[in-house]
Amino acid sequence: MAVSDLGADARVLWRLLRGQPNRGCHAERLQAFYAPQADRYDAFRASLLHGRQELIDSLEISAGDRVVELGCGTGSSLERIGEKIGSLASLQMVDLCPALLDLARQRAARYANVQVVEADATFWQPEKPVDIVFLSYALTMIPDWSAVIANAHAMLRPGGRIGLVDFHLPTPGGALSNFFWRSWFGHDGVHLSSEHLPALRSRFVERRCHELRAGVPYLPGFRAPYYLFVGERTAG
Ligand SMILES: C[S@@+](CC[C@H](N)C(=O)[O-])C[C@H]1O[C@@H](n2cnc3c(N)ncnc32)[C@H](O)[C@@H]1O
Repeated sequence: MAVSDLGADARVLWRLLRGQPNRGCHAERLQAFYAPQADRYDAFRASLLHGRQELIDSLEISAGDRVVELGCGTGSSLERIGEKIGSLASLQMVDLCPALLDLARQRAARYANVQVVEADATFWQPEKPVDIVFLSYALTMIPDWSAVIANAHAMLRPGGRIGLVDFHLPTPGGALSNFFWRSWFGHDGVHLSSEHLPALRSRFVERRCHELRAGVPYLPGFRAPYYLFVGERTAG
């Protein structure tokens, strides 16, 4: 790794060690947390947020689909969706943090069918029902996460699919391990839970679910627990 990259990572690590600011509303805390590290967000998260390409591949996004991403951050999923973007009916990317949305807008500028929306994933709704909703590492950062699951369910057409990849507390994951990861991530406003997967399974028909672990930058030997879930909305 180049010395300049190490210096940039040190800035991100310093932000992570200081934790998410606890003053202001949720949107203000996100902005205060992410603005100082936005330029290095993608490079640092590449080795922290695992399974994002697998999520996109599992969703089997097809030409003509109407797609929503909740908690899109810098819009890096555009790169993971790739050439299919042009064939979609629409892709709406929603987030609450202006510093990350600026980067998402730069990425989306070349696509007429991609819209970047500053809004709250707990209640924002598209104009028409959509075929696919996905979230990557966003549910754990949203205090009212159950409202997001209900909101995603409400925006899907019957038969539409939801996909998530995120950290969680596996059951059984080991009390000490789960305590460590809950505390480690909680400091940065990332709230790991063992309730997310059961809540998803109670709302959607499970099509695919993997519970995995993967490495964390600068923490050799530590493997954080995450899951990948794809479900389908039934007619009800
Ligand atoms: C860890 S980042 C993940 C970003 C992106 N999905 C990725 O994989 O790189 C979590 C994102 O959720 C967003 N977020 C948190 N609360 C939100 C809310 N209530 N509504 C919309 N986005 C929210 C944050 O601003 C941040 O961009």
